[in-house]
Amino acid sequence: MDELNTLSRAMLDARHYETNQSAFIMPEDRPAFHLSPRVGWMNDPNGFSFYNGQYHLFYQYHPYDSHWGPMHWGHAVSSDLLHWEYLPAALAPDMPYDYGGCFSGTALTLPDGRHALMYTGVADKITRHGGRQQVQTQNLAFGDGLNYAKFPGNPVITAEDLPAGASDEHFRDPKLWQEPDGRYRCVIASRDNEGGGQVLLYESEDLVSWRLIRKAAENHNRLGLMWECPDLFRLDGQDVLLVSAQDMLPQGFEYHNGDGVFCLIGTFDPESGEFRERANQAVDYGIDFYAPQTILTPDGRRVMVGWLMNWDTCNQHYRNYPWFGQMSLPRELFFRDGVLCQRPIRELEQLRADRVCCENVEIRGEKVSLPGVDGRQLDLELEVFPLDGPYQRFSVWFAQDEQFHTGVSFRPHESVLKIDRKFSGSRRAIIHQRRAKVAHKNGAIRLRLILDRFSAEVFVNDGEKVMSLAVDTPVTADRISFFADGAVRLNVKASHLTK
Ligand code: FRU
Repeated sequence: MDELNTLSRAMLDARHYETNQSAFIMPEDRPAFHLSPRVGWMNDPNGFSFYNGQYHLFYQYHPYDSHWGPMHWGHAVSSDLLHWEYLPAALAPDMPYDYGGCFSGTALTLPDGRHALMYTGVADKITRHGGRQQVQTQNLAFGDGLNYAKFPGNPVITAEDLPAGASDEHFRDPKLWQEPDGRYRCVIASRDNEGGGQVLLYESEDLVSWRLIRKAAENHNRLGLMWECPDLFRLDGQDVLLVSAQDMLPQGFEYHNGDGVFCLIGTFDPESGEFRERANQAVDYGIDFYAPQTILTPDGRRVMVGWLMNWDTCNQHYRNYPWFGQMSLPRELFFRDGVLCQRPIRELEQLRADRVCCENVEIRGEKVSLPGVDGRQLDLELEVFPLDGPYQRFSVWFAQDEQFHTGVSFRPHESVLKIDRKFSGSRRAIIHQRRAKVAHKNGAIRLRLILDRFSAEVFVNDGEKVMSLAVDTPVTADRISFFADGAVRLNVKASHLTK
C-alpha cells in the first residue's frame, strides 16, 4: 500500500518515542501476562480481533505520559492472549477530524484480506456562544496488521447521521461487524438530550456510506448517564449488549458508584434492529474494570478483555510510572442459569508450574500459611467448607509482607464477599474496598484468584461473579495467608504462573 510509506509526523514521532523509551522498562517491572502499554498510558482495549493467524489487541494510548492525553492506538499481537509482542503504534491523532484523539473502536477482517479499523475521531468546533465544543465522528483506517492508512473519505459517520436530540459531542466507540449476507453493521454509543446514554445501530453496504437504522437500546438515565463502548453478540442462545456506563448510582450490591460495566440480556431483532431487554447484570464487581470488548475466537469461544482500571482512580497516582494501565485477563464468557459468567481463558493453564495441592486444611481462628503457596504470579483455587457449624468470616491475604497486604474475605451470614486493598501501599483517598453478594451453601464457596504482579482477579463459584482490582504493592510482598473466624476446612490448589 502506497499510503503506508507516508506515515504522518505524529505517527513517526510516536513510533520513534515508544521504541526508544520502552527499552528502559524491564519486563519484570510490568505485569507478566496481562498486556500493559508499551510505554506511557493505556486505557480501553480497541480492535480486539483475530487477523492473519494472530490475535490483535490495540489500546487507547498516550505514549508520552503516564496520564491520559491525545489518544493514539497502541498495538500488540499474541498467539495465546498471554504472550504479547508489541507492534508499532497503529494510529496517531494527525487529521482535521481526529486531531483531538483517536478514540475507541473495533477491527474487522475484510473479504479482500485487509484489516479495517473503525474508530472515533475527536475534533472541536466553535459554538454559537463563542466557546469550544468537542465533535466526535466515526472514521476508517485500512491496513495489513502492521501499518494502517486512514481512509481519504473520512469521516464516514457524522452528526448528520444522528437521530434528533442526540449529541455530536458524545458519539463514540463503534463496534463493527459483518452480517452473513455481507452487510456491515455497527453499534455506536451516543448521548441523548436528557444526558443519558443510548446505543445507535447503523448499516452499510460498502463500509463507507452508512445509514441509521434505529436506537437499539436506551438508558433513560436508569443505569448511569452516558453509555460507552457498546458490544453486541450472541452467546448460548441469548443476545447480549455489553455497555460501559459513566456516573452510575449504586443499586444494592449489584451496581456501584462511578463508572461500571453491565450487560443487557435479551433479544436483538436483526430486522427491526431493536434490543429487547429481559435482564441486566453487572459484569465485574471489583474496583478496576471498564470498557471491555469481546472477540469470537477461531474455536468458537466468546472472550472478553477489559481495562483493569477505573476513571475515578486512574489519574491519582502519586508518582510517575514509565507505564500505567493494564488489560484484564482475557475471560471466556458463558451462561449458567441465565447469568452471564466468566472464567479465565483456558490457555492460562499452560503457564502453570510448581503445582501445590493441600486437602482438608483445618483453620480454627488462627492465621495459616502453606508451604509453596506464595508468589505474585499465581493461580490459586480454594474450596472453603464450614467445619463444626457456621463460621463468621474466612479471609485470604496476598501480596503480603510485614507492612502490606490485600485481602478477600467472605462472611456467610451476610453472603458478602469483600475485596480490600486498603493496606496495599496506596497513599490516595480512593476506593479501596468493594463488596458483592455471593451464593453459598452454609458457607461453602469456591474462589479462584489470579495474581499477576500488579493485579488480582477473583473468580467466585466457577465464574458466577468476578471482582478485579489493580494492586500497586512492591512485588517483594509475595506471601499468602488464610484466616477463619470460626472453623473452616480448606482445599487449596496453587500454581505459579510463568511464561
Ligand atoms: C471509555 C472512553 C471511550 C473513549 C475513550 C477515550 O473509557 O471514555 O468512550 O473512546 O475512553 O480514551
